[in-house]
Amino acid sequence: MSGKFYVTTPIYYVNDRPHIGHAYTTILADVLACFHRSMGDDTYFLTGTDEHGQKVENAAAKNGISPQQHADETVVRFQELWKKLGITNNDFIRTTEDRHKDVVKEILQDLYDRGEIYKAEYTGWYCVGCERYFTEKDLVDGKCPDCGREVSALKESNYFFRMSKYQEWLIDYIKSHPDFIQPAFRANETLGFLKQPLADLCISRPKARLSWGIELPFDSDYVCYVWFDALINYISAVGYRRDDAAFARRWPAGCQLIGKDILTTHSVYWPTMLKAMNVEMPKSIFAHGWWLTGNTKMSKSLGNVVNPMDMIGLVGVDAFRYFLMAEMTLGNDASFTREALLRRYNSDLANDLGNLLSRVVKLTLRAGGAIPAPGEPTGNEEEFNAAVDTAVSGMKNCLENMKLDQGIAAVLTAVRAGNRYVEQCAPWAMAKNNDTAHLNTVLYTVAANLRRLAVLLAPVMPGKMAELQKALGSGDEVLTIGDLLAGNCPDPAGRMVQEVAPLFPRIQDEEEKPAAPCAKPEKKEKAKAEVPAPEVAELITIDQFCKVKLKTAKVVAAEKLEGADKLLKLKIDVGEAEPRPLVAGVAKYYTPEEILGKTIVIVSNLQPAKIRGAESRGMLLAAKAGKELRLVTVDGDIPAGAEIG
Ligand code: MSP
Repeated sequence: MSGKFYVTTPIYYVNDRPHIGHAYTTILADVLACFHRSMGDDTYFLTGTDEHGQKVENAAAKNGISPQQHADETVVRFQELWKKLGITNNDFIRTTEDRHKDVVKEILQDLYDRGEIYKAEYTGWYCVGCERYFTEKDLVDGKCPDCGREVSALKESNYFFRMSKYQEWLIDYIKSHPDFIQPAFRANETLGFLKQPLADLCISRPKARLSWGIELPFDSDYVCYVWFDALINYISAVGYRRDDAAFARRWPAGCQLIGKDILTTHSVYWPTMLKAMNVEMPKSIFAHGWWLTGNTKMSKSLGNVVNPMDMIGLVGVDAFRYFLMAEMTLGNDASFTREALLRRYNSDLANDLGNLLSRVVKLTLRAGGAIPAPGEPTGNEEEFNAAVDTAVSGMKNCLENMKLDQGIAAVLTAVRAGNRYVEQCAPWAMAKNNDTAHLNTVLYTVAANLRRLAVLLAPVMPGKMAELQKALGSGDEVLTIGDLLAGNCPDPAGRMVQEVAPLFPRIQDEEEKPAAPCAKPEKKEKAKAEVPAPEVAELITIDQFCKVKLKTAKVVAAEKLEGADKLLKLKIDVGEAEPRPLVAGVAKYYTPEEILGKTIVIVSNLQPAKIRGAESRGMLLAAKAGKELRLVTVDGDIPAGAEIG
């Protein structure tokens, strides 16, 4: 075993369902945990939910249920998503569990007894959304400096943690521990924040105003401030004050992942709390950037929040994990678009990685199915082997420096070197010419290197990389990055490869297909121009046409399909007992309001389909010319469901 690694995610509020931001941090933590496990580290991965506070109380009130009931219902969504995403967390903590609440209470009592917490009158401003107090000078244009919302004036007695007394210590600690807050520019941001005098932290809320929280052990009129409670999860979950041996085994955390918006709570509140408790600091707090929709901040009000479930439906769990890890440079913001996801999927995974596997499997099967023993390597083999060696050492390096995207890019560079190698060697010609000696070397080199690359990508795409290794005849062998680094790889020669379905079949973007069914895709038209087909082949008989049942339909409901910016979800009246659901790719041309009430023309006997998770029965007709698209409608009033022919 090389070392220990404890990784945490922020614990997520249960006021809403999980979105791509939550999925990202959790996948990132999972990938880091899998990498460390694969390198032989004693690894522990914690995630969970933040269940107290105003946000949860408000959300529960809106649904007319108790906060606990609300938390119990919402937490399942997170747990189910993590299961679906193959997340390998060792523990999941909920802040409403006794094991957490009891530790929080003990900490509060201890700090109170030691004079680290005191009672005082608070006069100032309060932001309900952020659940934070501000002084007059903190406000920006009279509004919350963090979220820009209105703040309310407040005067009340509260309990305060003596955070201010740790200000100088914290500044020194950050300066003398350059890895403590990462990336470095976030450490500077914190130091900038610490240039102003640090106030003491209000850690209580009067029950009269907010009752959903952990009661202060020394004053039952108050509950604990949600952040003070929540931050403690990182230690309450691993045995603090309960099991010294377990705690010593895990703490200090190796990496505490957060999003950039919760930097101050983690780089100022948390370290000073730990200092007051006499607990060691985590080794690093790493703030990642935000996923934007295109170039715009994701927000519920803009309706552009990406739902992870939709993306899993589109490209599968592993490819979604791959995209998130490969696309975002840790620390910076990144843009999420469906197009970028499909582009990367089709190029990196379908064309490069999937293609290399299918080439070696097909050629090996043709040669009998066993990975042959190689002959002497030539310059070509050495070049490909060296690219894979570089990927192995590069991945370790990038991981240590939190440059995951670069580590993945190094693996893909090696995959491309593999495809180039195959093209240069042309093993199909070797097979044709019975040049078995060279053919064996090529097949062996590709199989052995591909297996090493799969081990490197396994933390990112555990399912697909296991399939890849199985296809190369690895059976149940578990090869780790530790093995690769130690040059400890069993010889694959003699293993039987297995025929497999394409690992990453190319995906054609359904939303790119023209809405008008009769308009042919551009590509096909070009192909036709190159090889003109006799015109007669395009003609159909009247019987064939009669198979298509066209009908009028009235749009009775229309809305955008969540997570699909080109699709509208319609309900159409076709003169049947119930309106039908229909998904149409017209959102770029018609708003839901514009299409509502129109009498359109549909193909009514099309087989039902599920499009992006939504049922669709029928297809509307539209005419497309260049960038213009117009719905086919009828000339004057006619009832819905009228037959067209
Ligand atoms: N409950 C607090 C954390 C307490 S930790 C002791 C919280 N919860 S949250 O559910 O609102 O947010 C959790 C994380 O999701 C934050 O790290 C936040 O940065 C992250 N994200 C929210 N939207 C995001 C994106 N669009 N992109 C990436 N991550 C973002 O804050």
